[in-house]
Amino acid sequence: MRLLVTGGAGYIGSVVAELAVDAGHEVVVLDDLRAGFRAAVPASSRLIVGGIGDVDALKEAFSHGPFDAVLHLAAEAAIEESTTNPALYFQVNLADSLTLVDAMRAHGVTRLVLSSTAATYGEPKQVPITEDHPQHPVNSYGESKLMLETCLRWYHRAYGLRTVAFRYFNAAGATAARGESRQHETHLLPLALDAVTGRRPPLRVFGHDYATPDGTCIRDYVHVADIARAHLLALEKIDPLGLAFFNLGSETGYSVRQVLDAVARTLGRVVPSEPAPRRPGDPAVLVASAALARRELGWAPQAGLDEIIVSAWDWRQRHPHGYDR
Ligand code: UFG
Repeated sequence: MRLLVTGGAGYIGSVVAELAVDAGHEVVVLDDLRAGFRAAVPASSRLIVGGIGDVDALKEAFSHGPFDAVLHLAAEAAIEESTTNPALYFQVNLADSLTLVDAMRAHGVTRLVLSSTAATYGEPKQVPITEDHPQHPVNSYGESKLMLETCLRWYHRAYGLRTVAFRYFNAAGATAARGESRQHETHLLPLALDAVTGRRPPLRVFGHDYATPDGTCIRDYVHVADIARAHLLALEKIDPLGLAFFNLGSETGYSVRQVLDAVARTLGRVVPSEPAPRRPGDPAVLVASAALARRELGWAPQAGLDEIIVSAWDWRQRHPHGYDR
């Protein structure tokens, strides 16, 4: 297939582009490089530098079609920032995304694979979270993605746009070639690994009084390559599915403390850490049911937490300063 991957220079998007190229697809990447890296884009992929809300960039991107599908991963995705700057989140994740979808419609592209998020659920009423769990986001990041999901339900009904939306839980880990690299890092594993090497200060563990066994937040970590594989499966199934929403998670929850213990166990290195207050917008527990993706897509995550940690560590050892700008 010929694919347009938005956010294909970013962490998850670049791994999606990598696996798509490896599977024989032709990939064009649209990324404004505000958070992404030219070096993360597969060598065989054309990179169009521009935003998803930029009509000139969209015109150029779609001139390299016709595309069989758009894989839309470009987004703002820092939960804490979304609590203080919701305008940015609604602009990019909702308004600009709809501009992208308008361009798809104008160019007759009828398949969309969307990266949505577990943050659309908010505080879970029960875990594991199934896709029909009520969606009441507790941050504007989750709300902006939920609003986009809602729009796409209407677009499916009115315009026949086929959509598979993935609600990612906590993407982590690396392939041999591509890993997690951000100018402003907020995510647990990369910060923990840099604390191990002394490149960053001790990890601040946000909150010790959550209603969890050890008082720290529980998350469901899923390998970025497993997430990418789900996108390729979605391309095979999107026509009969028409409109579908899937959780992508490992179905196993680990607390922050357990992740730090797993780093110590797998790498034989202790993560220096210190207690810190709760971070705004953090639900106590997020763990997926991935039964629907298993049943409908034949998807199952292959890597567990230890493989995630080792792959992230290996990549970081080879890219101690992340990607070259
Ligand atoms: N954490 C710390 N210290 C840090 C960083 C994180 O204690 O320095 C904790 C957080 O409080 C949280 C856990 O580690 O409990 C994971 O935090 P991340 O920032 O790595 O990830 P989030 O769970 O906040 O968010 C991620 C994605 C979102 C997605 C969400 C869904 O970034 O896009 O998972 O589960 F919505």
